[in-house]
Amino acid sequence: MTQSILIIYFLSLVVFVNGGVPFEFFQFVEQWGPNVCNTGARVSPCHTPPQAKFTIHGLWPSNHSNAHLLCQSKTIYSKVISLEGQLNISWPDLKYGNNDKFWGHEWDTHGKCSDPPFSLFQYFQISLNLLRKFDLLTILKAAGLNPQTSQNLAIQNIMAPIQRTTKKYPGIRCNKNVKTGKSQLNEIVLCLEKDGATLIDCPTFVSNTCAKSFVW
Ligand SMILES: *[C@@H]1O[C@H](CO)[C@@H](O)[C@H](O)[C@H]1NC(C)=O
Ligand SMILES: *[C@@H]1O[C@H](CO)[C@@H](O)[C@H](O)[C@H]1NC(C)=O
Repeated sequence: MTQSILIIYFLSLVVFVNGGVPFEFFQFVEQWGPNVCNTGARVSPCHTPPQAKFTIHGLWPSNHSNAHLLCQSKTIYSKVISLEGQLNISWPDLKYGNNDKFWGHEWDTHGKCSDPPFSLFQYFQISLNLLRKFDLLTILKAAGLNPQTSQNLAIQNIMAPIQRTTKKYPGIRCNKNVKTGKSQLNEIVLCLEKDGATLIDCPTFVSNTCAKSFVW
């Protein structure tokens, strides 16, 4: 009797540990609006012309092995009404203008993997706080960089001022502007501990290939 109770106890412990927190760190992905929709094989204009600012793409629970995470959460997405006004501004669906669908997609593909420890509400709240806390546009402008110019940049130009300010290495991602054929800054990633608050250096796989010289 006692033995079988013990076995059940240990089995549930194993299930909890494996299913509980299947990730090691967060990628907080910010996208540069003007460079989101002028790219890719199927170029479609953004739903509304994006403003020149960084907005949220997503908060992605990740593994250092870059493994595809298997998320356990059964929480079905529903719009967080109390945050909708802020999410509209900070986390818009630039491509299709369907914000609620975009948020649901990010929850289903990524957010779920952080539940537990974080609830659906906390997931969106943490993301909004991070965007507010790390003002990348101000950091880059203070370093003399300006968007939408023909200024040629190297990855260090973007990386260094952010590293100086946050003390941690970000990830830098580019895409290709189909009209000009140029590599352009698309996203900046901040990496965080599982607590969603403490910055860490991003592993190198987080950056994708920006051309040696690219524009912002
Ligand atoms: C991710 O890492 C965690 C913690 O090390 C581990 O429990 C989990 O199995 C990993 N998930 C995958 C899909 O590799
Ligand atoms: C958020 O935007 C949607 C349209 O995309 C709108 O219907 C809704 O009223 C907005 N919510 C708030 C609180 O501003």
